[in-house]
Amino acid sequence: MQPIDWIILACALLACVAIAVWSHWWAARRTSTLRRQVDEMAARQQAQGRGDARFRAVFEASLDAIGVSRGPDYVISNPAYLRMFGYATHEEMLGRKVIDFIAPEERGRLTDIIVRRGLSDDAPSEYDTVGLRRDGTRFPMGVRSSTYVEDGVRYTLGILRDITASRCHEDEVARLLIERERLIAELQEQRERMPLACLVTDRDRRLSYWNDAAQRIFGWTRDEVMGRDALALLVPENTRAIAVEAMQRADHGERMAGANVNLTKDGRQITCEWYSVPLPSTRGVPESMMWLAQDVTERRRLEDELRQAQKMDAIGRLAGGVAHDFNNLLTVITGYGEIIQQGLDAHHPLRSHAEQMLKAAWRAAQLTRQLLAFGRRQVLQPRVVDLNAIVADMGKLLRRVIGENIELMTEFFPDLGRVRADPGQLEQVLMNFALNARDAMPDGGRLTIATADRDLDHDTPDLRAGRWVLLRVVDTGHGMDAAVKARLFEPFFTTKQPGKGTGLGLATAYGIVAQSGGAIVVESE
Ligand SMILES: Nc1ncnc2c1ncn2[C@@H]1O[C@H](COP(=O)(O)OP(=O)(O)OP(=O)(O)O)[C@@H](O)[C@H]1O
Ligand SMILES: [Mg+2]
Repeated sequence: MQPIDWIILACALLACVAIAVWSHWWAARRTSTLRRQVDEMAARQQAQGRGDARFRAVFEASLDAIGVSRGPDYVISNPAYLRMFGYATHEEMLGRKVIDFIAPEERGRLTDIIVRRGLSDDAPSEYDTVGLRRDGTRFPMGVRSSTYVEDGVRYTLGILRDITASRCHEDEVARLLIERERLIAELQEQRERMPLACLVTDRDRRLSYWNDAAQRIFGWTRDEVMGRDALALLVPENTRAIAVEAMQRADHGERMAGANVNLTKDGRQITCEWYSVPLPSTRGVPESMMWLAQDVTERRRLEDELRQAQKMDAIGRLAGGVAHDFNNLLTVITGYGEIIQQGLDAHHPLRSHAEQMLKAAWRAAQLTRQLLAFGRRQVLQPRVVDLNAIVADMGKLLRRVIGENIELMTEFFPDLGRVRADPGQLEQVLMNFALNARDAMPDGGRLTIATADRDLDHDTPDLRAGRWVLLRVVDTGHGMDAAVKARLFEPFFTTKQPGKGTGLGLATAYGIVAQSGGAIVVESE
C-alpha cells in the first residue's frame, strides 16, 4: 500500500470519527429540543385544559343566557339559556334552529337578521324580540350578539335576557307619566271649572292664577289681573287691615277661613268667604298661596232677612199674646168703670175720678189694639179694594196732616190690580207712613205715594214669586242709618223725644200688612 493510501485511509477514518461525533452531538441536541418541545406542548395543553375548564365554568355560571349558533343552526348553550326557554337537558335542544326559540310573529323579521349575522358583521348586533318557551308562552327578550371564527367556520354568540321586568318597569313608567299628565290636566280642568273663585298669589301677593269663577265674581279677566297686587285689587281700603292680618296668618301656615268685604271691577262691594290653601314648594316652605272664595252677599242678605222675620215673628207673638190678655182685663176695668160712673150722679165727687180711670183705660185699650195689630191678632174685615182709590180718598186728610211745607205727590198706576185687605187698616198704615215722613222732613220736602203692579220672579222670605201690587211711599227726609233700619218695626223702638213717639207706628203697619198677606220693604240712602 502506498503512503498516500494510508493518508487517505487515515483521513477517511478521521472523517468517519468526526461524522460519528457530530451526528451523536446532533442527535443529542435534537432529542433535547424535541423533549423540550414536547414538555412545552404538554405544559401548554395542560394550561389550555385548565383554561378551557375555566371558560366552561364561566359559560355555565352566567346568569345571562348564552347560546352559540352556526348560521341558522343552534349549536350549544349554557344552563341559563335552557332555563330561560324551559328545557331540562342539552339533548332536547340538539338539532334545533335558532328561530325555534323566537315567537312565530317575530320570525320573519329575525330570520333575515340571523342569516345576515351568520355571514357578516353588518347585521344589527342588539335588538329586542319575543322569546318562545318550550311550553309555548312568550316573553320579551333582549339580544346582543357577536361572531367569531373557528377552524374557518363563522359562529354567532348570542347573549339573551328576559326583559319582562324592565319592560314592565318601562311600561309602568310610561303609564305613570301618562296618568300624571292626565291627572294634572284633570286638576287644571277642575280648578278652572269649580264654582268657587280660585286664585294663586306669590310671596308678594301678586296674582299668578285666576279661574273662571274668579272672573265671574270679581269681574276682572285673567289677563287684567296677572301680576297685580291681590289686596289692592280686591279689598276696599277700609277693610284692608283685616285682610292683611288674615293673609299674614295664612303666610305663617295657619289655614284661614273667614269672610271679608271685597270690591268688584265695577266698584260694587260684595261679601266673600275666603279659604287659604298653602301650596307646598320644593323646599317645603309655602311660596305661593291658593285662595278659594265664594260670594255670599246674597246668602247673607237672605239670612239677615230670615233672621229679621223670625225675630219679628217672636216679638209679635209675645206682644200679641200679652196685648190679648191685657185687653181682656181692660174690658173688665172699663166695664166696671162705666157701671160705677153710671151709678154716681152728675155732681158726685168720685165721678171725675171714675172718668179719669176710664180715660186711662181707653188709652191703654188703644195701645193694646196697636200691639194686637203688630202681633197680627186683630180682627180684620178684608175686602177687595183698589189702592188707587184709597190713596186718592186720603189725599185731603194726608195733606192736612203733613202740613204746608211738605208737597204731596201721587202717582197712580193705570188699571192697577186689586188687593184683598181691610181698607180701614190700610188707611191706618198710610197714615203712619205719612206721619213718619213728616217727622223726617222738619224743614219741608216732598212725599210721594205711588202705586204699581209688580212681577216677582223669585221667592223671598216674605213673599212668594208672582204678581203683587206695590204701594211706594217716598220722602225726601233725613233717611235712616243701618242700626235704625235693623230695628224699625220693633214695637216701642223710636228715635224720637220721650212723649213725641211711642215707637208703635211702624210695628202696627208691619202687623197689618203681614196679616193681610203682604210685606214691607225699606230702602234708605
Ligand atoms: N220716613 C222715615 N224717615 C226716617 N226715619 C224714619 C222714617 N220712618 C220711621 N223712621 C224711624 O223709625 C222709628 C220708628 O218709627 P215708628 O213709626 O215705628 O215710631 P215713631 O214714629 O218713632 O213713633 P210713633 O209712630 O209710635 O209715634 C222712628 O222713630 C224713626 O227713627
Ligand atoms: Mg211713627
